[in-house]
Amino acid sequence: MNFRVRPVRRLSGECEVPGDKSISHRAALLGALAEGPTEVQGYLEGEDCLRTITAIQMMGVDVTKKGPGHYRIAGAGLGGLVEPADIIDCGNSGTTARLLVGFVAGQPFWTLLTGDESLRRRPMKRVAEPLTRMGATIVGRSDGGRLPLAVRGAERPRAIAYDTPIASAQVKSAILLAGLRADGPVTVREPAPSRDHSEVMLRAFGVRVERPDARTVTLHPGPLRGTAIQVPGDISSAAFVLVAGLIVPGARVTVRRVGVNPTRTGLLDVLASMHAPLTIDAQRGSDASGEPMASLTVSAGPLEATTVAGAVIPRLIDEVPALAVLAATARGTTEIRDATELRVKESDRIAVLGRELSKMGVRIEERPDGMAIPGGQRFRGARVVSAGDHRMAMALAVAGLVADGETLIEDAACVQTSFPTFVDTLNALVGGDAITVER
Ligand code: S3P
Repeated sequence: MNFRVRPVRRLSGECEVPGDKSISHRAALLGALAEGPTEVQGYLEGEDCLRTITAIQMMGVDVTKKGPGHYRIAGAGLGGLVEPADIIDCGNSGTTARLLVGFVAGQPFWTLLTGDESLRRRPMKRVAEPLTRMGATIVGRSDGGRLPLAVRGAERPRAIAYDTPIASAQVKSAILLAGLRADGPVTVREPAPSRDHSEVMLRAFGVRVERPDARTVTLHPGPLRGTAIQVPGDISSAAFVLVAGLIVPGARVTVRRVGVNPTRTGLLDVLASMHAPLTIDAQRGSDASGEPMASLTVSAGPLEATTVAGAVIPRLIDEVPALAVLAATARGTTEIRDATELRVKESDRIAVLGRELSKMGVRIEERPDGMAIPGGQRFRGARVVSAGDHRMAMALAVAGLVADGETLIEDAACVQTSFPTFVDTLNALVGGDAITVER
C-alpha cells in the first residue's frame, strides 16, 4: 500500500491521536498478571499493541473488547498463566517481543517468540543477557540474540541489581516484569533515564517501586491488583501532527489529551529551544494513575536550529524522523548526537532518513551516532520508500505536505502499527484529500 501526498495550502484545527503505544502494551501485560480484572480505555488498536493482546490470550488470559479501545482483561495472577500452545508472532513490535521475554522469564514453561523480517534483525541480547542472569533459559538465533527465541522461565527468578549499558525502557521493563516473581528486590540502573511508564503503572497496580534517583529503579516483588487505566494520546504520534503544524505556512493546530510524562517530552523541550510557538495546556486531574495529559498547540513560524544530544535523546528517540523533517526547514544546522539506537529501530533510521530525504532534494549528513541537518532546505516531490518503518512513512508524508509537487510513499501500510488513523487525521486538518491511500 502506498501514500500519495499532495502539497497543501492550509492546515488548522484540533484533533486527538490514538492511545500511547508504550502505555497500551504495559496495560495489557500488567492486567494479565493482576489479581482481578483491569479495564483499559483508550488502548491503541494498532497492530503492535494488538499483538500483545493476542500474546496474553495465548497464555490463557481472558480479554473482552467492550468498545473502541476499551478492553476488560481478566487477570490471571502472577501464577495463573499457561504455556502458549503455539509460537507467538510479535510482528513488527520490538516492545511486544522484548517485554514478553521478561514477562515469561518468571513463568515456569516454554514460550516461543518470533517476528517479522525487521524484528528478526533487531537485537535481543540486551534483554536475554540480564534475564539469563535471573535464571531464565533463552535460546535462539545468533546465540540467543535474535528472534526466533525460545524462553524457559525460571521457577523463581533470582533478584539482581543490573546496570544496563543502554538507556532502554524495553530492557528495564523486561527485567521489572521478570522481577515480579523474583526471590528478592530487583534493581535496574540506566546510563540516562528512559521512559518510566512501567514504574508508574506498576505503582497503579499496587506494586512497591522505589526510585532513589531518575536513573535507578527498585521493584519489590509482589502481587498486582487489577485497576482501571486511561491511556493518554501518544506524543510520538502527535509529533507528526505538530511538525505539520509548524511547517505548513499559516498553520495552527491543537492536539488534545496527549500524554506528557516528562520522560517522553524531549520533543517539546527541543521545540522550545528552536523558538517554536508552542503552548502546553495541562489537563487538570488527568494524572489520576500517574500519567499527565495536556493539549498541545503549535503554529507555523520561523524556527532556529538546535543541538539534540545527551540525556534528552531517550526522551525523544521515536520523534527523530519527524524532528529531522522539521530541522530541514529551520535556520541553521541542527545536530543530533548520541543517538546510535536509531540504527536498531524498525529500520536504521539514520541511514533511511539520509537516503529517502535525499530523494526529496534534502541533504542530511549521516554520522555514526546521529546526523547534521542543514536548515533552509525545500522538499521536492519524489518517489520514496518507508523501509517498512511506520515512523519513516509518516515523516515522509509530513514532508510531502510542504513539497514542490507530489510525493509517493511506497510500503506505507506499516503506519497501522502505531497510528492507524494517521491519514484521516491529517486530511481532516487539511480539509481535503492531501494524502490518498493507493492499494
Ligand atoms: C519503548 C521504548 C523505546 C521506544 C519504543 C517503545 C517502550 O525503545 O523506541 O518505541 O515502550 O518501552 P528502547 O527501549 O529500545 O529505547
